Amino acid sequence: MIYAALKLVHILAIVLWVGGMAFAHFCLRPSVQPLEPPVRLRLLRDVMRRFFALVLWASMITLGTGLWMIGRAAKETVRAGLGFNMPLDWTIMATLGIVMILIFGHIRFALFKRLNRAVEAGDWPAGGAAMASIRAWVFANLCIGVVIIAVALLMT
Ligand code: HEM
Repeated sequence: MIYAALKLVHILAIVLWVGGMAFAHFCLRPSVQPLEPPVRLRLLRDVMRRFFALVLWASMITLGTGLWMIGRAAKETVRAGLGFNMPLDWTIMATLGIVMILIFGHIRFALFKRLNRAVEAGDWPAGGAAMASIRAWVFANLCIGVVIIAVALLMT
């Protein structure tokens, strides 16, 4: 029961994180493209600030529930007198999940700060460059997220 609840929370956090990245990449970004840089970059800065606050929680919840599930599975196996071997798909998920968290950290704490500073200073070329980097890294994380989901569901 606890295991199932952990998995539910794990998946809900992933839905928020990966779904939000897909929305930003495929719907939000193309729709704001025709706007003038001052309007577009202010809007994107405000949207990203809110989204990244949610992702910070979602990423910590993903990691916490994931490690908790591994811990529970390991404990049960050892209690049954067997050795615990982490399944390959779990290892891939945990490794790529940590890569996603590190990339998110770079987006939130380096690139987003750069965007914010540029918007505050009215430096639109610098803001545009920061936003382009954010977009590229968000897309990279979206691709890694999709790969992890495929690995989790296709590898048995
Ligand atoms: C951050 C480190 C992560 C760890 C330690 C971790 C660990 C786990 C564990 C132990 C399970 C339970 C698997 C089972 O019961 O068969 C699980 C399920 C799952 N995880 Fe993760 N995970 C992490 C990140 C992610 C990420 C980033 C994604 C997707 C972007 C993801 C997607 C999934 C999915 C779709 C399942 C359900 C698989 C199934 O029920 O067949 N996980 N995860």
